[in-house]
Amino acid sequence: MVNLQVKEIAVIGGGTMGHGIAEVAAINGFKVHLNDLTLDILQRALNNIRWSLSNLHGKGQLRESPDEVMSRISVTTSLEDAVRNADFIIEAVFEDFNVKSSIFKRASEHAPPHSILASNTSSIPISELASVTNRPDKVIGMHFFNPPVLMKLIEVVRGDKTSDETVNVTVELGRRLGKEPVVVNKDVPGFISNRLFMRLIESACLMVMGNEASIDAVDSAARFKLGLPMGIFELVDFVGIDVVNLILKAMVNRGFKFSGCGLIDDKVKALKLGLKTGEGFYKYPEAGKYSRVKVPKEAGEGVNPVRLIALAVNEAAWLIRNKVASVVDVDTVTKLGFGFPKGLLEYADSYGIGSVIVELIKLRDRYGTVEPDPLIMQMVSEGRVGVKAGSGFYDYGGEGYETVKLTIEPPIAWITLNRPEKLNAINSKMINELITVINKLGAEPFDRVRVVVIKGAGKAFSAGADLTMFSNEEPTEAYLTSRMLQELTNRLERLNKPVIAMIHGYALGGGLELALACDMRIASEDAILGLPEVTLGLIPGSGGVKRLVRLIGLGKAKELILTGAKLTAKEAEELGIVNRVVPINELENETRTIALKLAEEPPITLMIAKGILNIASEGSLEDTLTAESMGFSLLFSTKDSREGINAFLEKRQPKYQGK
Ligand code: COA
Repeated sequence: MVNLQVKEIAVIGGGTMGHGIAEVAAINGFKVHLNDLTLDILQRALNNIRWSLSNLHGKGQLRESPDEVMSRISVTTSLEDAVRNADFIIEAVFEDFNVKSSIFKRASEHAPPHSILASNTSSIPISELASVTNRPDKVIGMHFFNPPVLMKLIEVVRGDKTSDETVNVTVELGRRLGKEPVVVNKDVPGFISNRLFMRLIESACLMVMGNEASIDAVDSAARFKLGLPMGIFELVDFVGIDVVNLILKAMVNRGFKFSGCGLIDDKVKALKLGLKTGEGFYKYPEAGKYSRVKVPKEAGEGVNPVRLIALAVNEAAWLIRNKVASVVDVDTVTKLGFGFPKGLLEYADSYGIGSVIVELIKLRDRYGTVEPDPLIMQMVSEGRVGVKAGSGFYDYGGEGYETVKLTIEPPIAWITLNRPEKLNAINSKMINELITVINKLGAEPFDRVRVVVIKGAGKAFSAGADLTMFSNEEPTEAYLTSRMLQELTNRLERLNKPVIAMIHGYALGGGLELALACDMRIASEDAILGLPEVTLGLIPGSGGVKRLVRLIGLGKAKELILTGAKLTAKEAEELGIVNRVVPINELENETRTIALKLAEEPPITLMIAKGILNIASEGSLEDTLTAESMGFSLLFSTKDSREGINAFLEKRQPKYQGK
């Protein structure tokens, strides 16, 4: 439960980050007070915001007009005026401790007692900033990524004295700003993002300086073998070699151990700072203007991609072992902060933890880098060596499934339909494996799994039952196949945990029927949904007829099934088939957010509510009323119901245990 409702935000500093943060806040409906030293700087910030808003508006990405958004931003050269009515203050001035601490001191003296003071710093300890204020429990790090208007990630950094309430308010605010906040539980130098980034740079640098590979070879392997959007050196050029150097030095000064990178030092000395000066590790036709670096694919043939990520994986293990971040946090940072197509630890699991350790040992012996972290050594000793073993950083269900993938990221279990080359068409093997997985998830304790998400690998959710099954099927065989499909959808509907279908691409026939048996359906804008069986001379046979009628009524269900029409996601939303439609790049995050929200609720209550809702959709009023009273009274036997009521009365956040 978050008690503080943020309405007004003060942003201190109108530079690159400050004006971007002010823009994001205003777009999302907050009143913003932007402060900097001179009116000139503030005018420039306003011009930049207006330019960016017009761009977004031109692309149809703004709900209001730029003028309406701008009307929520006021500027002032007085720090005191900016913070006077602010519920939340975000400082985004340059990285100088004295300047920042003086701002924090003054802001804390003039801001209302309830307001929270956040710093966008990437290098200064939050606890030190907190110590100069009159409210260390309300001081926090809120590290945005550049440009704030586009980048989804925010690192929320806890200082020594930051209270849980402050963390909760900041996370909630991050979400209201349309971002994906990741909590950094300890204020370690470089947080999560820069620690991982520096390790990627370290691996790349060592390889080049040790004459193992050229810059081109490293970047080619990063792009074509790992599938990263940019090579490592290309990314350093893009960020600015001097900027990387400053962050790295600040981290090293705070105790971060780094082997050194002569390549960076040389470029800084030669003032070849990357894209902004027209030359860094690569040459650019025009300084400051982004152009794609040409890296030949063949160049990276001899580079082992595991070597490139090994030090970063080791760093991630350190972060996890020291409870700074979770596995999911690390992967969220690498996906949203660096644009990795999949998380760093998903790579580690698919290459195998053993191969990561081999590379770490080679690096240690050759360059004196750190030992493999005890966490990954322990994983290997327990046989948790990655996807092949069924378990690594993630749990893949412990069994090697052929047609589905199970990933348990407590409290969420992700089931992936995994026949992407056949658009995840559901064959007999998949039916059996799904039933096994659903049974397994039913038995998982609530402290591990509270919500299940089903999604499809590749381009689609699922294009339906595998039609090759039906080509020579006898009626009796077809009857049994239909019964098995019904068994599958029934088990899903009755699972003791909420199930969300995360739909992208096609959800047709049996694919849609599977989704209809879930408790919620979240679709991306590109999704196409339908029950086209009649066009093949068949009818839906996995329980979809009843479930569709129940969901949208007989008339609409008849229209859909008799015409075999395919609906866009929007049309399906209007009919009530899907609960929500989101842009494709937000689908996974949005689904995760909803799943995490559900996971906060008491799981036994959800289980009983789900059962009674299923009865309500089928049974008579009398059946439902009886079930309701029985469920209602049964819940009084749970510890969670007492916890919920007590927490409300004591004005605190409830902690549900599923008991
Ligand atoms: N059963 C078996 N295989 C299927 C399948 C299904 N339901 N749906 C797709 N596939 C296979 C295709 O045969 C193709 O395999 P191939 O590469 O070996 O030829 C592969 O998946 C990719 O599908 P393709 O048709 O090439 O993709 P597309 O983008 O051109 O078309 C669809 C996509 C969904 C429109 C089309 O595949 C289709 O109509 N599928 C059947 C949908 C259906 O009727 N479902 C109801 C069944 S209950």
